[in-house]
Amino acid sequence: MRLDKFVAGAAGLTRSEARARIKSGAVTVNGSVEGNIGLNLDGSEAVCLDGRPLKASDFIYIMMNKPAGCVSATEDAREKTVLDLLAPELRRRGLFPAGRLDKDAEGLLLITNDGALAHRVLSPKKKVGKKYFVRLSLPLLDDKIDILEKGVDIGGYVTLPCKVEKISDFSAIITVTEGKFHQVKRMFAAVGSRVEYLKRVSFAGLELDERLEPGQYRELCTKEIEKILLTIQ
Ligand code: URA
Repeated sequence: MRLDKFVAGAAGLTRSEARARIKSGAVTVNGSVEGNIGLNLDGSEAVCLDGRPLKASDFIYIMMNKPAGCVSATEDAREKTVLDLLAPELRRRGLFPAGRLDKDAEGLLLITNDGALAHRVLSPKKKVGKKYFVRLSLPLLDDKIDILEKGVDIGGYVTLPCKVEKISDFSAIITVTEGKFHQVKRMFAAVGSRVEYLKRVSFAGLELDERLEPGQYRELCTKEIEKILLTIQ
């Protein structure tokens, strides 16, 4: 494996961050400073970053800006999946989406092969925050905000308290701590409004990187992984 890829994976850096660290002389291979980002490793080398030994990490954490039109699944007989958008070498790494966005929804999707982390992020007990921007085709009346925030019946289930920030009659940001099927759409429908566009902008302490166009993705950096860990401790 190339040195920059190894350092990125083991230290939780992006590939370009890893390259910068290697070029700055922060990486040693078998005790000597190594500046060749493309050095081929056979796995037997002792690699250190800032004097700290690095261990190969099999875990990958990806932030995707999910586009509308594909499903949050690993495979589907009929539909294009979010995994289909990944580079072929990533598709072989046992990745899956940690959580779901509707086919027509966009925004922050965490894709990983760390089953334990995904389990905790999705556990209802952890009450992990999820923030959505919604555009509405039926207006949100002011008196409905309080009702939404206290909890509404979405068909045999009353939602937990949440936060709603009205942006205009036809748009809002809603932060919920649970993930029932079509939850946000059903919540707005319960107060006589209707979601026509939904985008997740934040999840488990992560903010969607707005530089990612729909369909684009990148690996999380260490700080972002630490933020997730903080929300699920
Ligand atoms: N709520 C919804 O209605 N849809 C989503 O995709 C996510 C939350």
